[in-house]
Amino acid sequence: TAPDPAAADLLTWYDRHRRVLPWRALPGETPDPYRVWLSEVMLQQTTIAAVKPYFAAFLARFPTVEALAAAPEEAVMSAWAGLGYYSRARNLHACARAVAAAGGFPDTAAALRKLPGIGAYTAGAVAAIAFDRPEAAVDGNVERVMTRLFAIETALPAARPEIRAVTQDLVPADRPGDFAQAVMDLGATICTPKRPACALCPWMAPCRARALGLQETYPRKVKA
Ligand code: ADE
Repeated sequence: TAPDPAAADLLTWYDRHRRVLPWRALPGETPDPYRVWLSEVMLQQTTIAAVKPYFAAFLARFPTVEALAAAPEEAVMSAWAGLGYYSRARNLHACARAVAAAGGFPDTAAALRKLPGIGAYTAGAVAAIAFDRPEAAVDGNVERVMTRLFAIETALPAARPEIRAVTQDLVPADRPGDFAQAVMDLGATICTPKRPACALCPWMAPCRARALGLQETYPRKVKA
């Protein structure tokens, strides 16, 4: 029978295969909460390829959260123009002002969650990646990985509480930020929606869906 998945096996894979991304700290560097937060908000409904040039331009124009807070609304909206979902930009500006007024980003998921535009996903991602808090950051990619790993039969969206729980249970105490980013990288590069590259997966042995030969059939969805 399949072994239980271990965070350590994923982290070993991540150390070898981690993607270099503009908002990501290199090994040994301290992550910048502003860059982590800005990237997570931009990546919510937009691909990495589309985000990259906006992220660079945004940082050049607003290098710090204080600079973003001090900018006029029109400057923020015009830097965002093209990314879509403009309520994200308005929330981004409101969040920057709250953070600047407070003297910096709060360092827990619960406190981050109270800021404009920060939901459960973003709070978990920033807390884990920027502050190494043992928080789960569950987006659509992570849902796919976890429903396959545990062969979760419940369809989305009803499966979300269970997905959150199994993800949280896997978060390691020592490298929660790397773990969050490793699951994202696994979902983007190996555990893809179609034809996942199971032979290259650090979690092939414990993957319940793979053992059943049903990896592409998860996550289950309610039939339309
Ligand atoms: N998608 C959302 N957040 C991400 C991150 N930090 N790294 C890679 N892909 C992501």
